[in-house]
Amino acid sequence: MIILGIESTHDDSALAIVKDYKVIINLKISQIDIFRKYGGTIPELASREHVNNFFILIEELKKIYDLNKIDQIAYSAYPGLIGSLHIGFLVANALALSLNKPIVPINHLHGHIYSSLLFENELEIKKIKYPYLALVLSGGHSQIYFCKNEKEDEILIGQSCDDAIGEAFDKVARFLDLGFPGGPIIDLLFEKNKNAEYLKFTKAKTLNEFDFSFSGYKSQVINKAKKELNKNLLAISFQKSTIDYVIEKFKNGIKKFNPQTIILAGGVSANTYLRSRFLALHKNALIPKMKFTTDNGAMIAAAAFIQKNKKTN
Ligand code: KG4
Ligand code: ZN
Repeated sequence: MIILGIESTHDDSALAIVKDYKVIINLKISQIDIFRKYGGTIPELASREHVNNFFILIEELKKIYDLNKIDQIAYSAYPGLIGSLHIGFLVANALALSLNKPIVPINHLHGHIYSSLLFENELEIKKIKYPYLALVLSGGHSQIYFCKNEKEDEILIGQSCDDAIGEAFDKVARFLDLGFPGGPIIDLLFEKNKNAEYLKFTKAKTLNEFDFSFSGYKSQVINKAKKELNKNLLAISFQKSTIDYVIEKFKNGIKKFNPQTIILAGGVSANTYLRSRFLALHKNALIPKMKFTTDNGAMIAAAAFIQKNKKTN
């Protein structure tokens, strides 16, 4: 089964050809350089960029791959920036019409979950043993999903009540004048300053034990900045406390749900400290390859395989 995956929910325009989780082609045009100077994404500009980018990507794909070979088209249908979603929807439908192929809408966040299954050579093949518990941390969402077996849907058991964790990283970095996007910058600073005397943060409380709250951590950075002038120390202490907080919650989730596999996903899953702490939580912990942590078309195809198997099993 060969699937063409299309991703356009935010600021990445991406197309991929995937054959049973094996990534054959993975094309992407990131808009990050455009938005770096603004310190964040401008939705209207992102939509316009998607229009130009998909034209280039489709031309490129046609040169290197015979599109008649694909069996299905999967596109990221929600959640995301409305204008960007429209472009992805139109690209997917135009291709489906011209190639006469079936089309399937995919939840972008489910795409992230299954990005861990993507591989490029056979040595990297990974399998999910059910039930699984997944931690999805991105610039727009922070969620925990439980899935009982391959026929059942993914159940959301916790999410952020305010900012997403990636959003909080980006806002803290912007406040401290460290650059955009903040996640990778703070990650690098943290790795260079291991064993520092981290500043202490008050832990956020939530009504549902598996929900998150990150805006309080952001406010604590702003308050501490009045007394603590070392902005690098503020940033790395923010990373230490938020990642420790997420890991502690997820550990409680493991105790309660007793999963056979745990999965880490989303743009923030690129974080070095988070990856190493997550791998230590369970003997069957799956994390995506670095290139599949951020938005991409291949993960949308991977989620379409899972969805298809649910229906046919
Ligand atoms: O899933 P994603 O690629 O896109 C959307 O959310 O649409 O996630 C992007 C987020 C940004 O907030 C970025 O700062 C964060 O992922 N991120 C990181 C790292 N790399 C990207 N956060 C922490 N550490 C990183 N190494
Ligand atoms: Zn994403």
